[in-house]
Amino acid sequence: MDRFVIRGGVPLVGEVQIGGAKNAALAILAAAVMTNDPVRIENVPDVTDCNVLLKAMERIGVGIIRQSKHVVVIDGSKIESCIIEDEYLKRIRASYYLVGALLGKNRQAEVPLPGGCNIGVRAIDQHIKGFRALGAKVDIGHGAICAEAKELRGSHIFLDKVSVGATINIMMAAALATGKTIIENAAKEPHVVDLANFLNSMGANIKGAGTDVIRIKGVEKLHGTDYAIIPDQIEAGTYMLASAATHGDVLVRNVIPKHLECITAKLCEIGCHITEYDDAVRVSAPEPLTSTQVKTLPYPGFPTDMQPQITVALGLAQGTSIVTEGIFENRFKYVDELVRMGASIKVEGNMAVISGVSRYSGASISVPDLRAGAALTIAGMAAEGETIVEDTRFIERGYEEFEVKLRGLGAKIERVSSEHDLQKARLKLA
Ligand code: UD1
Repeated sequence: MDRFVIRGGVPLVGEVQIGGAKNAALAILAAAVMTNDPVRIENVPDVTDCNVLLKAMERIGVGIIRQSKHVVVIDGSKIESCIIEDEYLKRIRASYYLVGALLGKNRQAEVPLPGGCNIGVRAIDQHIKGFRALGAKVDIGHGAICAEAKELRGSHIFLDKVSVGATINIMMAAALATGKTIIENAAKEPHVVDLANFLNSMGANIKGAGTDVIRIKGVEKLHGTDYAIIPDQIEAGTYMLASAATHGDVLVRNVIPKHLECITAKLCEIGCHITEYDDAVRVSAPEPLTSTQVKTLPYPGFPTDMQPQITVALGLAQGTSIVTEGIFENRFKYVDELVRMGASIKVEGNMAVISGVSRYSGASISVPDLRAGAALTIAGMAAEGETIVEDTRFIERGYEEFEVKLRGLGAKIERVSSEHDLQKARLKLA
């Protein structure tokens, strides 16, 4: 089990390159099995979630060739089974994208029920509602979701809740259904749009992605494509907040600034200086940060996946801030660890009331989930003294070379896997 050891108090300064969006990649990799032609995908992030999904796909007969670190060629022509029995796959939420993809293509899928980050109940009723509306029989049993259909027919589906996953899953199955599907109250996240663009590049007919009504005309089959995944909005946002919390000056490269507007708006409010370029954003925070209120919402609102990172920054802002979690009901577990680092935060239900402190102090901290892991690492970089982030596995699910990129910005951070490493790292960081 690896750990990060950090010597905090160093402002992050320099440039960082953002990789492909993990959440778009998970949908696109799964959707790539929907054709029998080879599909070449660029900008696939080398993170555990994507690698676990690719391994599970390989086990059902999908050909996977990693042409280079970030380029994958997928061949879905020899799928032997639509039943996925991968123990590890349960841990990633996006495992269920294989249901939409395989149901669309082969009219049958059985996939372990999703796990993912432990941030509250993560229902799948809207996915099931969508599959059933398309004519599938869906059962949950023995820890798996099982869907099959003789025929998939287009339908008019009104989502009761804005759900990224349900929108993506329904879009995939409907792309190969007979007739027209309309998804109302659809999610508008950038990765929903990226998946629609990807499917269209394979011959699908999807319009309206990025608005709350998506119209899909089913096609008989999809063909191969060559596609590059969009940059990761959340990875970019994480480095932007790391710059803010450490009073740094960071140029975040290879981003789509439009996707970051919900984050840049808040950073401006709390006193950061932002410069937008065509494909980069610079964030500097020379002055003390000031308080604000944040509520997480579906896109284009402030992303729930940035909630821990902004809470860490607001914990160091002058005055009282309020962060309200509007998507998940249990996403403040990391606050106890932040309080151990000197933060003054009270959580009541889905709201955190933050009284800014002038500094955090380093501590040994445990990580409850992926984004909280990144946020607590940021807290460690802003803190006085040594922080040890126990267990980096959550962070590796969604951040490629996190500590390497942070070191590139001047952070004093090392990955260690033994006590001996830890002692060596301490000497190096002193
Ligand atoms: C995706 C992202 C995740 C992000 C989240 C919200 C991926 C792989 N993961 O997760 O990083 O935090 O969007 O932006 O892209 N819900 C239901 N019924 C359903 C589906 C969802 O009640 O059938 C609820 C969920 O419990 C949650 C809310 O809807 O409270 C939003 O969930 P959803 O948008 O589906 O999130 P995910 O797709 O799981």
